[in-house]
Amino acid sequence: MKCTILLHSATGNTRLVAEFASRRLSEAGHQCVLHDVVADPEPPDCSQVDLLGVACPTNYFGQSRVMQQFLDRMPPMPEPEDRPPRLAFQLGTCGGDPGAHFVTQAEQLQRIGWLTLGARTVSFPDSWPPHRAIVKPLSFTAAIGHALGAKLAPLRALLSLPYPDIHQPTHRTVSRLGRFINRVSRRAAVRDHLAAQSPEDLARDRPRALVHLGRAMTLEKIRHATDIRIDAQRCTRCGTCVDQCPSGCLTREDDQSVPRVGTTCVGCWACYQHCPSDAISGWHAPAVLGRYNGPTPATIEAFNAKWLD
Ligand SMILES: Cc1cc2nc3c(=O)[nH]c(=O)nc-3n(C[C@H](O)[C@H](O)[C@H](O)COP(=O)(O)O)c2cc1C
Repeated sequence: MKCTILLHSATGNTRLVAEFASRRLSEAGHQCVLHDVVADPEPPDCSQVDLLGVACPTNYFGQSRVMQQFLDRMPPMPEPEDRPPRLAFQLGTCGGDPGAHFVTQAEQLQRIGWLTLGARTVSFPDSWPPHRAIVKPLSFTAAIGHALGAKLAPLRALLSLPYPDIHQPTHRTVSRLGRFINRVSRRAAVRDHLAAQSPEDLARDRPRALVHLGRAMTLEKIRHATDIRIDAQRCTRCGTCVDQCPSGCLTREDDQSVPRVGTTCVGCWACYQHCPSDAISGWHAPAVLGRYNGPTPATIEAFNAKWLD
């Protein structure tokens, strides 16, 4: 089977998940290609693809708008009558809840001829800048969080709001993800399009208020809530933010000028996360305090362990 996974990842969490999925599919004998939508913004030719994966972070209770804009550019698949619809799966990473992420992405995929076989999110609660900035000062209470998390395991996702450390992915999370990939690929191999989930099915799994919230987050609101500012005093003119910006929103006249923030921001915060001189701040997130440096070595190890299953 030929598989392509479209990938957007600003700080590395989703890349870890997508690379794991890609390895899983290859180990099962399938041909799998990862397509980074920022490095290569041109949609790939999917005419021979049997299973399409879409992997991106949740941003503002929806799929990352980088991925949304990429899927908008994907040409619709032709629909020959003798062939059932094509099959896809969705992978996401989030800090707490994906909201409308999988629902709107399934709708978008359906419009271009792909049915969603299933969707899976992996939670990295320690990685959302405003959350980090607000919660970090409370980190002295981490011991309480761990004690509560051990006693009240089913409430761990909720408890990770005040105590982000206690709900990081573990070997068990990764095993579950592996089983999800196996299930999806088995169904795709026999073209079991009856097993596909509609956007309504995917919405049923999520708190309704958060799905509404995700749908309500227009680009205009996202830009307002992102509010990227660059401190000219701290900026070293290294150009990292300009290179990292996937939407061409940051520009500069020459190597010596401070980048200007334009109007095409999609709210991914990649500039904030990658600025090496802590010169960028955003909504409720002063420079430094909310920065996420990517998955920890323990998390990377969990995704790369050999003995899983
Ligand atoms: C701008 C921004 C908005 C986010 N919005 C949400 C959100 O609405 N819900 C959520 O659970 N996590 C949210 N997060 C957390 C990300 O989904 C999480 O950090 C993700 O794993 C990042 O993936 P990446 O490392 O592949 O970029 C947000 C993160 C950023 C930077």
